[in-house]
Amino acid sequence: MSGNRTFTMIKPDAVRNGHIGAILKMFNDAGFNILAMKFTKLSAEKAGEFYAVHKERPFYGELVEFMSSGPIVAAILEKDNAVEDFRKLIGATNPAEAADGTVRKLYATSIGENAVHGADSDENAMIEGSFHFAGTEIFG
Ligand code: CMP
Repeated sequence: MSGNRTFTMIKPDAVRNGHIGAILKMFNDAGFNILAMKFTKLSAEKAGEFYAVHKERPFYGELVEFMSSGPIVAAILEKDNAVEDFRKLIGATNPAEAADGTVRKLYATSIGENAVHGADSDENAMIEGSFHFAGTEIFG
């Protein structure tokens, strides 16, 4: 059975470009409840840790530099079938391939600076949510 929580970040490009409000409205309009949320900034070390799974990829250095280049919004969202429905809402990783009406089609500028992150599995949603919110009430 699929879970009812996912994890997201509104990335530094979308924050810099003033799209936090519009993107959060899209999340709400699509039926996602915000269970936890914070406006924060990742150090290069923390960004590297968060994306450690991509360590061997050629874009890892660029990804870490970008994700630590400015503030982000991190959030845990709730909805039935959260992970899959959220990935549909945000669209393909590469905005050139993202469907009309998706967050990335509207707000992403490139595959690297793609406005939002969405967890790709229930397991990763839990790991990533815990990375940002461990010790807060939502995680007990
Ligand atoms: P995200 O869903 O946050 O997970 C991994 C991120 O790596 C991805 O979004 C992109 O922002 C980034 N990424 C994936 N492929 C590339 C690429 N070819 N060049 C630069 N960044 C990439």
